[in-house]
Amino acid sequence: MLRSLMLAASRSGPLRTFAEDTPLLRPVVDRFVAGTTLDEAVAAARALTADRLVTVDHLGEDTTDRSRAAANTDAYRTLLRRLGDDGLAPRVEVSVKLSALGQALPGADGEKIALDHARQICEAAHAAGTTVTVDMEDHTTTDSTLQIVRDLRVDHPWVGAVVQAALRRTEGDCRDLAGSRVRLCKGAYDEPASVAFRARRDVDLSYVRCLEVLMAGGRGSGYGLPMVATHDPVLIDIARHLGRGRAYEIQMLHGVRPREQRELAAAGETVRVYLPYGTEWYGYFVRRLAERPANLAFFARSLLTR
Ligand code: FDA
Repeated sequence: MLRSLMLAASRSGPLRTFAEDTPLLRPVVDRFVAGTTLDEAVAAARALTADRLVTVDHLGEDTTDRSRAAANTDAYRTLLRRLGDDGLAPRVEVSVKLSALGQALPGADGEKIALDHARQICEAAHAAGTTVTVDMEDHTTTDSTLQIVRDLRVDHPWVGAVVQAALRRTEGDCRDLAGSRVRLCKGAYDEPASVAFRARRDVDLSYVRCLEVLMAGGRGSGYGLPMVATHDPVLIDIARHLGRGRAYEIQMLHGVRPREQRELAAAGETVRVYLPYGTEWYGYFVRRLAERPANLAFFARSLLTR
C-alpha cells in the first residue's frame, strides 16, 4: 500500500517540480545520486573504477517535450566523449531510459524519435569504446523498448536490454534474449496483477527461473552476458552458483549496500555500479524510497536534523 502510494507520487509533476527546486533535499538525495553535473559524475565514476565497473545514468524520464529529448541525447553524447577522452571507457558504460529520449512524446512518432536518439548515443558509445544498456520502464513500454533494442542491435550487437522478474512475460523474454547482454532486475514499478507477480516470493521465484535461463544461454553473438541486478543476498548467492565457469556481472545501485559491493569485488566477482547524476532526480529518488520503508525514516531523520 505504502509502496503503491510512493510509486504514484514518483510520477507526480507538481511534486517533482517542488522537490527538484528545493535545495534542502539535496544532501538527502546525494546518498543515491552522484551529483548534478558531468564533472561530479565523472569524478564519482573514476573513484568507483578502482575496484568496480560503472554504468552512468543521466537522469531524466517521461519527457513530453521534443527539445528536452534532444537535450538529453546531447548530454549522453557529451558524457560519452568525456568517458572516452578521460580513458574511463570501457570500465564505464551508460544506461539510458527511452522515455527521456522521446518515447513518451505525444503523437505517433515518439518511438521513432527515441530510436534515432538512441542510435546517436550508441554511435557515441562505439566511438568512445564502451557500451549502452537500455533501462526498462513500466509494462506499457516493454514491447516498444524491446523492439528498439532489437533495432539498435542490428548495428550495435552489444546493446544491453533490461528485463523485470516481476512481469509474468519475462521468463519468455529471457528465452528470446539469452545469449545477449541482459540485465535482470526485480522491477521498480507498481504493476497490475494481470501482468505482474505482486507477492515478493513470486517475484523472487520468477527471478530464479529467469536467472537459470540467462545463465544457461551461451555467448550468442559473442556479447552474451547475464547482468544480475539485485541487492538481494539470496539471489546473489544463487547467481554465483549458477554462473560458475561463465562470465556474468553483479550490478547494484550507487548508495545501496556499498560495503557488500566492495566485498563481492574483493572476492573476485565482477561488480558494476549504476551511477545516476543530473538535476531530474525526483522519480529515481522516490522509487529508491519506495523500495525500502527504512529509507523513508532515513529521509525524515535527515530533514529533521538539518
Ligand atoms: P529487494 O528490493 O528485495 O532488496 C533486497 C535488499 O537490498 C533489501 O532488503 C535492502 O537491504 C537492499 N535494498 C534494496 N533496495 C534498496 C534501496 N533502495 N535502499 C536501500 N537498500 C535497498 N528497475 C526497473 O524497473 N528497470 C530498470 O531498468 C532497472 N535498472 C536497474 C539497474 C540496476 C543496476 C539495479 C541494481 C536495479 C535496477 N532496477 C531497475 C531496480 C530494481 O528493479 C529494484 O527495484 C531494486 O534493485 C530493488 O530490488 P532488489 O533486487 O535489490 O531486491
